[in-house]
Amino acid sequence: MLRVRQANTIQGTVRVPGDKSISHRAVMFGSLAEGTTTIEGFLPGADCLSTISCFRRMGIQIEQQGEKVTVHGKGWYGLQEPAERLDVGNSGTTIRLMSGIMSTQPFHVVMEGDESIAKRPMRRVIGPLRQMGAKIDGRKDGEFTPLAIRGGDLQGIAYQSPVASAQVKSAILLAGLQAKGVTSVTEPHLSRDHTERMLQAFGVHVVRDGLTVSVEGGQKLKGRAIQVPGDISSAAFLIAAVMMVPGSSLLIENVGINPSRTGIIDVVQQMGGDLELVNERVVNEEPVADLLVKHSQLHGIEIAGDIIPRLIDEIPVIAVMATQAEGKTVIRDAEELKVKETDRIATVVDQLSKFGAKVTPTDDGMIIEGETALTGATIDSMGDHRIGMAMAIAGLAARGETIIENEEAINVSFPGFAELLEQISK
Ligand code: S3P
Repeated sequence: MLRVRQANTIQGTVRVPGDKSISHRAVMFGSLAEGTTTIEGFLPGADCLSTISCFRRMGIQIEQQGEKVTVHGKGWYGLQEPAERLDVGNSGTTIRLMSGIMSTQPFHVVMEGDESIAKRPMRRVIGPLRQMGAKIDGRKDGEFTPLAIRGGDLQGIAYQSPVASAQVKSAILLAGLQAKGVTSVTEPHLSRDHTERMLQAFGVHVVRDGLTVSVEGGQKLKGRAIQVPGDISSAAFLIAAVMMVPGSSLLIENVGINPSRTGIIDVVQQMGGDLELVNERVVNEEPVADLLVKHSQLHGIEIAGDIIPRLIDEIPVIAVMATQAEGKTVIRDAEELKVKETDRIATVVDQLSKFGAKVTPTDDGMIIEGETALTGATIDSMGDHRIGMAMAIAGLAARGETIIENEEAINVSFPGFAELLEQISK
């Protein structure tokens, strides 16, 4: 149980844990590369630890101490058939990206995860991987876990993805690295491009043409040093806290500002928030900056279209923040929220309403009416890390005390969240 009291102000200079997407990829690519990969700033959250444990079960030696990881890669075909099922825990990124990798391996593997993973759609990755020649089965013809994969002998494809999903794009490109010929993926909107950037950092030739990315089969990865920036999706909770609690200001150092992830910055600025990027630099093909955030009176806006994949994970906390903005905030084109760790349209509306917020669900998003005074409430994370954290942030601006039940889910992406909130709330 996590207790949150209304904050008088939020102040300080802080860092957030490493980027989840980049941490997963660094472990995966390091395992498949020739030679050693060292990772600094790794996110030691439950999801990324699931990725490490899966590769260890396939014979890869990985040392991890907090944010430092060393991966002793054995080359693409250095993985061994695991003796047991691979457990991905709560991590969609692990199971979907690994489906692509496992599709190239000449052995049998079964992957499964927790109750939430068992409900999430898998055919979006299994479908194209089958087209490439992988033998994959799962419940409901491959829609749900457990997934059983026997890979090898793949043929490149030109895939038009119906969804803007980095997990789908990455799975296909990773399979494509060991397929005959060229594999390309075209998306309806640009999704996060960490896979493309990091593959290049590992020495792979990746070609981008508008919304199409392609790779040629038969390429090798070479181990290297990776520094993981702080996760903008974790920083988003702190940005929202500053915008909701009058008199607040915060410097959040070393945050990844890859343009495919910065929708939250655009939204806060469009809503009238004072958010400045300082000390911009590039680390391992990924742009990084410090974020200087000052409390501002926000106004409601409409959030829809191309920006949605650039802030999909931040929508729960954007909804929370919008309760303190003047006027209406409308979120559209975000039906993907329904297939995240929980149905985040339903869970945001259910939990946020408990504070007295005015939030209405729609088919593809939600409408939030502000500005509304919030009252402390007892909230359930529903096992979803981002719901637990978003509601804790609402608690900082709510009168009285808020209790978050099932708060252990927060460990999936933000270990130390409660302690950090304590440190910056005055
Ligand atoms: C991720 C991609 C996104 C995102 C998830 C992490 C990734 O999912 O929501 O938290 O690391 O590739 P989709 O690809 O399903 O949109």
